[in-house]
Amino acid sequence: MSQTRFLFLVFCSTYFHLTHSLNLEGGLLLQQVKHSLTDPSQSLSSWNDQDDTPCNWAGIKCDPSTRRVNSVDLSNFQLEGPFSTLLCRLPSLSNLSLSNNFINSSLSVDISRCRNLKLLNLSQNLIVGRIPDTLSRIPNLRILDLSGNNFSGEIPASFGEFRRLKTLNLVNNFLNGSIPISLGNISRLKELRLACNSFSPSQIPSQLGNLTSLEVLYLSGCNLKGSIPDSLSRLTRLQNLELSYNKLTGSIPNSLIELKSILQIQLYQNSLSGELPSGLSNLTKLLRFDISKNELIGTIPEELCGLQLESLKLSENRFEGSLPTNITRSTNLYELKLFNNKITGSLPSELGKNSPLQILDVSYNGFSGDIPSHLCENGALTDLILSYNSFSGEIPESLGKCQSLYRVRLTHNNISGTIPWTWVKLVELDTLDLNDNELSGDIPVGIQGWKKLTELNLANNRFSGEIPDEIGSLLVLNYLDLSGNNFSGEIPPEMQNLKLNFLNLSNNRLSGDLPPLYANRNYRNCFVGNPGLCGNFPDLCPRVGGSKKQGNFWILLAIFVTAGIGLIVGIVLFCWKYRAVKKNKKEIAREIAMSPWKEFHNLPFNVLEIMDCLDENNVIGSGGSGEVYKVVLSKGETVAVKKLYRGGGEISDKYGFKAEVETLGKIRHKNIVRLWCCYDTVDCKLLVYEYMPNGSLGDLLHGGKGGLLDWPKRYQIALDAALGLSYLHHDCVPPIFHRDVKSNNILIDGEFRARVGDFGVAKVVAVAGPGGVSMSAIAGTPGYIAPEYAYTLRVNEKSDIYSFGVVILELVTGRRPNDPDFGEKDLVKWVSTTIDQKGIDHVIEDTLESKYKEEIRKILKIGLRCTAALPINRPPMEEVVKLLQGVSADKSPTEFTGMGRAPLNYYQGEASDQAGKFSPDYQ
Ligand SMILES: *[C@@H]1O[C@H](CO)[C@@H](O)[C@H](O)[C@H]1NC(C)=O
Ligand SMILES: *[C@@H]1O[C@H](CO)[C@@H](O)[C@H](O)[C@H]1NC(C)=O
Ligand SMILES: *[C@@H]1O[C@H](CO)[C@@H](O)[C@H](O)[C@H]1NC(C)=O
Ligand SMILES: *[C@@H]1O[C@H](CO)[C@@H](O)[C@H](O)[C@H]1NC(C)=O
Ligand SMILES: *[C@@H]1O[C@H](CO)[C@@H](O)[C@H](O)[C@H]1NC(C)=O
Ligand SMILES: *[C@@H]1O[C@H](CO)[C@@H](O)[C@H](O)[C@H]1NC(C)=O
Ligand SMILES: *[C@@H]1O[C@H](CO)[C@@H](O)[C@H](O)[C@H]1NC(C)=O
Repeated sequence: MSQTRFLFLVFCSTYFHLTHSLNLEGGLLLQQVKHSLTDPSQSLSSWNDQDDTPCNWAGIKCDPSTRRVNSVDLSNFQLEGPFSTLLCRLPSLSNLSLSNNFINSSLSVDISRCRNLKLLNLSQNLIVGRIPDTLSRIPNLRILDLSGNNFSGEIPASFGEFRRLKTLNLVNNFLNGSIPISLGNISRLKELRLACNSFSPSQIPSQLGNLTSLEVLYLSGCNLKGSIPDSLSRLTRLQNLELSYNKLTGSIPNSLIELKSILQIQLYQNSLSGELPSGLSNLTKLLRFDISKNELIGTIPEELCGLQLESLKLSENRFEGSLPTNITRSTNLYELKLFNNKITGSLPSELGKNSPLQILDVSYNGFSGDIPSHLCENGALTDLILSYNSFSGEIPESLGKCQSLYRVRLTHNNISGTIPWTWVKLVELDTLDLNDNELSGDIPVGIQGWKKLTELNLANNRFSGEIPDEIGSLLVLNYLDLSGNNFSGEIPPEMQNLKLNFLNLSNNRLSGDLPPLYANRNYRNCFVGNPGLCGNFPDLCPRVGGSKKQGNFWILLAIFVTAGIGLIVGIVLFCWKYRAVKKNKKEIAREIAMSPWKEFHNLPFNVLEIMDCLDENNVIGSGGSGEVYKVVLSKGETVAVKKLYRGGGEISDKYGFKAEVETLGKIRHKNIVRLWCCYDTVDCKLLVYEYMPNGSLGDLLHGGKGGLLDWPKRYQIALDAALGLSYLHHDCVPPIFHRDVKSNNILIDGEFRARVGDFGVAKVVAVAGPGGVSMSAIAGTPGYIAPEYAYTLRVNEKSDIYSFGVVILELVTGRRPNDPDFGEKDLVKWVSTTIDQKGIDHVIEDTLESKYKEEIRKILKIGLRCTAALPINRPPMEEVVKLLQGVSADKSPTEFTGMGRAPLNYYQGEASDQAGKFSPDYQ
């Protein structure tokens, strides 16, 4: 028996007397490791002293022959507490992963006692202090991942002594100093990832060129300066070179063309200058090339055209000359971004003919000529962004075949002719921005086909004819600008159906009366400059002198239509001056780079990467306050990023937006969408949330996917959302009122469990008097707003309960709260009158299985109690939770197994979670 082994036995036996059958290793894990950690989610509940060995415990694996523990993998267990080096006393331990927990101690030098480790993964924790330089004494370590912690100090120079290390990941820490040149000695290294650390400004060590096995070199956001060393040309196995977000200068070295295996080169956001090297055609495997945001000059080399590029991004440089016609030979090209350069000439007429082109953004250049007509030959085009060029000619009719076309921005060109009639068939269209061209003719017949259109901007053209009634059927439209045209006739009353955030019909030739909804002086500026529109509203008439002259550079208006109960009862209008002169993208990027992020959780990703992913083509939704992007980060994590524009921000600030975000950022609850971090600049705010793959309940229920939601799922969703709200109301100190509870704000994860999200207007109730809080403006969404809003601007938790009741009614009926079938009624009224007149079964959605009818009726009754007209009659959320749980408790739990529904005790577990574990974290 070796001495180590002997010591181990002596050590462990002191803990052994408590257990009878459990072996030494089990005793160690149970008595030492488990007990040193807080385990709020009971992830270690299978660790017990009744077993003989720990081999079947959660996270533990044993060698099949010796039955010794060889792997401890407690990733994502939500464990809190110190790192226990006692784990190193497991003699056969080769893999140790504690990734994504709340390990908050420093890492002691003792860790080198884990002699047999091959893999050490402590990523995504809260570990502080220096990285022990003894780590390199672990002789067989192959994978070391310490990314996403609070490590500080320098990378130990001793790391050069690693002999077998293949992967070194220190991304996203607070490491300083410079990258040690000794890293060039880790000859077997395949992956070197040091991105996102606060290194002092230094050069890329030329010694890294000695790492000839390297496949991944990820040094983004490392404060690197100087030029890219020629020695990197020796990395002939390198597949991925990422040096973005640094301060690299000089030109892109010629030697780069020797990287024969390279698949991806990311050099964006540096200060690289000069022309592109010649010989790029030698990079025959290159698929993705991004050199955006540098100071590169010269022309786009013809040589790029021979490659099988998928993605080419040259945006925000000073390239000039024309786009080589032979770019059309890249038959895999799906993404071409050239915006903000000085490129002239025309786009190749065959662009898109031979490749699955999906995204084309050449805005802010000097392009002229026609819009190519083959862009959609392969049916893939989603984004066509040609703004701020000198394109002329007409909009190609052929693009009307482009079923996937999502966003079209042709602003500020010389495009003439009409909107082709074929374009009304673009059913996926989200944005149509034709502002500032020379287009004429009528709005085509059939625009009711644009069911998903959220933004329609035809301003400053020569459009004429009447505004079609069909505009009222674009139910998701929230931005409408028809100003500066020759539209005539009356404003169709159907426009009152729209839920607009922005409306501008000024400077046309409209006449007649304003529809009653808009006959309010708050809307005046939306209609100025239409001499015939005086009608019943004389105040409109006054001179508009001057504003036309400055075109679209002045006074546009925003309207927040925010209230209504059956009938719209409240309208709040905000106007702001808006300069159409867009901020230079470079300036925005600079602001972003200089402003700090606010992080609320230990981030399992790199925030810098997020900024680069905020492409228009990643937008998954847009609403009044801004756009929501789905961002897939390089390591595969997905987050949702909400970008609030300045306008929205100003309004939100009235509610103390910043304080709220901070408070909400601290919440950790299973049924509340996690806000990872937020980011605040003058121009926009970014809120980074966990991504919920099944979208919102509203989308599922009303977007044609209601069939996915059988009754057990719906019941679970109701209960989950109730738990989330109950937490906000009763367990947060001070309480939080959501104020915009609706099915679109209840988000659904991959397992159809629900979380409450979107706290855009949430209110932390600092000193809630008995009457609630007086709001400076109405918040909420028509159909969900409690009736008391009509006569008071006071909200309290009862308003949330009402809205939640509406969500229950949605779940039961499958109907939208403002279903046009209801006429002047809303869902609440429709349900109660239909029950009175025809009976309860007439409101339950047909597709729900009849065997659940009894349960559904009970839930419906809870929904009706929540939507009681008098606030006092609505049960508090705590009680709603109990009522909902009671419905399921009436049934035998077994009935739900196999239906994706958790067993009964799950709910109880969760209820106690709320009361105890989350609130201390919150305070
Ligand atoms: C680490 O976490 C534990 C458990 O949550 C806590 O009790 C302890 O105070 C924390 N220690 C530090 C240094 O933050
Ligand atoms: C340890 O991790 C490596 C790399 O992930 C893996 O190949 C190996 O199977 C793991 N060993 C055990 C015992 O789990
Ligand atoms: C560390 O663990 C996390 C979580 O399981 C995983 O995503 C990551 O890839 C691991 N790191 C390495 C280098 O294997
Ligand atoms: C880790 O760093 C973050 C970001 O600076 C900070 O907010 C947090 O308090 C730090 N955590 C610990 C445990 O030091
Ligand atoms: C490593 O690289 C440096 C500079 O690039 C060079 O001077 C040195 O000879 C190299 N060492 C080995 C062992 O190749
Ligand atoms: C580039 O390719 C050409 C032709 O295949 C070849 O002659 C040349 O040596 C290559 N250059 C480099 C630096 O590999
Ligand atoms: C474009 O490619 C063709 C071969 O497909 C070639 O003959 C032609 O010379 C190329 N044009 C330029 C300007 O290099």
